[in-house]
Amino acid sequence: MTLFELVNAGKPKNVPLLATEAMGYFTVTVHTTNTTIAYMLGYIISHHSVHARLKEELNFLADNTRGKLSYDDLRKSEYLTAVIKESLRMRPVLPGFIPRIAPPSGITYDGISIPAGTMVTTSESSVFRDEQIFTQAYKFKPERWMDPDSKDLDEWFVAFSRGPRNCPGRQ
Ligand code: HEM
Repeated sequence: MTLFELVNAGKPKNVPLLATEAMGYFTVTVHTTNTTIAYMLGYIISHHSVHARLKEELNFLADNTRGKLSYDDLRKSEYLTAVIKESLRMRPVLPGFIPRIAPPSGITYDGISIPAGTMVTTSESSVFRDEQIFTQAYKFKPERWMDPDSKDLDEWFVAFSRGPRNCPGRQ
């Protein structure tokens, strides 16, 4: 039973459950973000051309805003966005295998019938390492996200998962 279901049922607050939920939220918000930033900084300092281009773009933005860069200004940086996406592609902090249980009615997916109660899962890492989708999949190439011919790649950007339970913190 989730915390919300307990509260809705008028039951007293369950402290251990509350603590577990809080720890869960702490992990999904803090751990995901700081791990991603750590990986991203590692990629930037080990790829000199990426470092140089990013510095140039951020300096340009800082000059244009007289040093008062806002979140919206940063979002306009196409290259910074590409570096973040490429870091998440190379090192998705939640690489997959988040389980889902087929509903009581069962489910049919791609012509395959999955009986009620079956656990199914997928892997974001496998998508990100698929050479048919991402050429030179093991190379850190932020430019791939800016190539006009690669617009379809966004369909495969699954670092925040997909579907009704996808990450609400993705913005
Ligand atoms: C780089 C940062 C992050 C990544 C890569 C990430 C990724 C994910 C993924 C893959 C899921 C699982 C979705 C699923 O079950 O299908 C998830 C769930 C979730 N994330 Fe994030 N996340 C990040 C940051 C954040 C932040 C900053 C917040 C809050 C401000 C957040 C809040 C949540 C919550 C509440 C869930 C559970 C959603 C649900 O079960 O309905 N995440 N996240």
